[in-house]
Amino acid sequence: MTILVTGGAGFIGSNFVLDWLKDDATQGESVVNLDALTYAGNLRNLASLKGDARHRFVQGDICDCSLVDRLLAEHQPRAIVHFAAESHVDRSIHGPGAFIRTNVEGTFTLLEAARAYWGTLQGAAKEAFRFHHVSTDEVYGSLQPSDPAFTETHPYEPNSPYSASKAASDHLVRAWHHTYGLPVLTTNCSNNYGPYHFPEKLIPLMIVNALAGKPLPVYGDGQQIRDWLYVSDHCSGIRAVLARGRVGETYNIGGWNEKPNLDIVHTVCALLDELQPSAQGPYARLITYVKDRPGHDRRYAIDARKIERELGWRPAETFETGIRKTVQWYLTHQDWVAEVQSGSYRDWVAANYAHR
Ligand code: NAD
Ligand code: TYD
Repeated sequence: MTILVTGGAGFIGSNFVLDWLKDDATQGESVVNLDALTYAGNLRNLASLKGDARHRFVQGDICDCSLVDRLLAEHQPRAIVHFAAESHVDRSIHGPGAFIRTNVEGTFTLLEAARAYWGTLQGAAKEAFRFHHVSTDEVYGSLQPSDPAFTETHPYEPNSPYSASKAASDHLVRAWHHTYGLPVLTTNCSNNYGPYHFPEKLIPLMIVNALAGKPLPVYGDGQQIRDWLYVSDHCSGIRAVLARGRVGETYNIGGWNEKPNLDIVHTVCALLDELQPSAQGPYARLITYVKDRPGHDRRYAIDARKIERELGWRPAETFETGIRKTVQWYLTHQDWVAEVQSGSYRDWVAANYAHR
């Protein structure tokens, strides 16, 4: 038995592959990992799998239909778990084209390939096949302070090129189920954090900038709220939905951890003050308010009761345990940080922060 994972060299995908191959419940089921290795993909995340025959890495694009067709025919996976995406809101504002291509056209290509492949399956194999689409809470748009958290029936109101492209991909997945009967599952998750998080996103950016004595750029007033989930909890949620989720359903995954950005930055600073104090004084001295992100969503919050009620899933980490593990991971993986900060990363930081 095998599964095809797309985007398995990125932040969440690599955590998913590592956890999958460690998890007793998956019984060592092998993984074919299709990833284009964009700026966000990093084979170093998967270095511990070197020589492990259960992991087969294929560098390639999800928009390449003949490659995807070939991989499905050759490996006969019993599921596709689709992470591959352009994932950073700020980059989507600077250059939306790549988001439409990978998130919309790429998902379309995979759905068509999956539909053709599923059509060749018979009996129990056809019955068991799943296409699991990994999506985001950002498709639901922005909440007012007193609004209830997003349920699975919340209207789609995406506000950024990123969230609009993910919303489009969710709609395609839904349509392929309703029209063609493809056995799909969709999960919409809140903001993740943890090991291997590319330091363009809030938490790892704050950690690496603080350690380098650089400004900690807080957009606007820093009171925007996100609902944070430790990445291994997202991965266990996906495994639960893949194993036991009802076909055609969507499940929200979240950590019940709503926090304003400024609180997150202060928490990161306090942990660094404890674990690696700076001779120049508390890290919070580096906090710098900068121009806000255009169209910045004010608040996201996930109501994760459906996945708990139907599948018994709950996060294992609290924010306090998860953020401590995360800061410790960055402190002990400075070589990983140094490598991802080379070349194009510096160009991105210059493009995003120079005029703020
Ligand atoms: P990431 O940017 O870290 O990784 C994306 C991976 O996809 C990279 O390895 C990249 O090389 C690969 N990729 C990009 N374009 C590709 C293409 N055309 N073909 C093949 N591979 C390609 O993203 P992430 O944070 O790990 O997010 C993974 C998925 O989870 C995305 O679909 C994202 O929308 C979703 N998600 C992310 C979060 C979060 O907080 N990061 C929260 C909810 C949902
Ligand atoms: P981010 O990690 O980019 O995730 P998303 O936009 O998908 O939620 O940003 C999280 C929050 O942190 C978001 O409200 C924007 C804010 N932010 C900053 O204040 N400063 C930064 O330098 C970055 C990257 C994000």
